[in-house]
Amino acid sequence: MKKRVLIIGACGQIGTELTTRLRSIYGSQKIIASDIVEDSTGLLSDGPFEVLDAMDYDAVQDIVIRYEITDVYLMAAMLSATAEKFPMKAWNLNMSSLFNVLNLARDKKIDTVFWPSSIAVFGPTTPKTGTPQRTIMEPSTVYGISKQTGERWCEYYHQKYGVDVRSVRYPGLISYKTLPGGGTTDYAIDIFHKACKHKKYVSFLGAKTTLPMMYIDDAINATTTIMEVDKEAIKIRSSYNLSALSFSPEEIAAQIRSHIPEFEISYEPDFRQAIADSWPQNIDDNNAREDWGWKHKFSLEQLTEIMLENLKGKY
Ligand code: SER
Repeated sequence: MKKRVLIIGACGQIGTELTTRLRSIYGSQKIIASDIVEDSTGLLSDGPFEVLDAMDYDAVQDIVIRYEITDVYLMAAMLSATAEKFPMKAWNLNMSSLFNVLNLARDKKIDTVFWPSSIAVFGPTTPKTGTPQRTIMEPSTVYGISKQTGERWCEYYHQKYGVDVRSVRYPGLISYKTLPGGGTTDYAIDIFHKACKHKKYVSFLGAKTTLPMMYIDDAINATTTIMEVDKEAIKIRSSYNLSALSFSPEEIAAQIRSHIPEFEISYEPDFRQAIADSWPQNIDDNNAREDWGWKHKFSLEQLTEIMLENLKGKY
């Protein structure tokens, strides 16, 4: 099958690793990376790259036509903590980029869309543990409202126009290659950098704030798997719950201490505490496991080892 992929937001935390993985599967020339800025890391230099504003419909369409794109992965978004500071900017970016891509699919200019949702679609009234696929969803953050709305639109475009849109609700993602930007779960990455650099970390979330988390390779596997299965397998066109691990700052600190015994953590919760408190602690992802064979691989122990191993040389 002739597949040509456009990744929008390819320089971000997920986009970078997704681009690398898709290039290794389909060949570098078939995966077009794009972002609002040039790639400053050099990590995407092995294939085509375009500077692209996801909010500019004509510019997105131009690249789709020029490269004969079949699949778009829309990874550009403003995350939860930054979105609280710039509500209108976040809403405009998160929604207009999605409409641009959904409309290209509605008009048959592309075949398939991947768009990530998030645990942020849930809110304070959602059951906190074993959060079901279908449950109360009253998100209390700008980011969560944009993801919840996006889910509704994805399902609508599928039902009304037959758009093949696929989505998962990512938990907090842990990775070392690039830094995340502006999320509430970012502490769980920063803690490894600070552990390697200063052997100390001041957490912006309280000791016992448990959130759903996942190692990046699992998230990339989920993404490529849901995009590869037959469309009949995809029974949910809003977004699938996706789960791997759950831990709190004190639990991850204990893991780090098993490698760096002198590591110290202290707690100074800020505005991000309220965001974290509105999200579930762990999620039921049986639909993803049953419908398209989702399985996670990495444990907290394993990801701790990988993170420390890869970051220790950096400082
Ligand atoms: N990791 C994201 C955030 O914290 C949640 O999707 O904003």
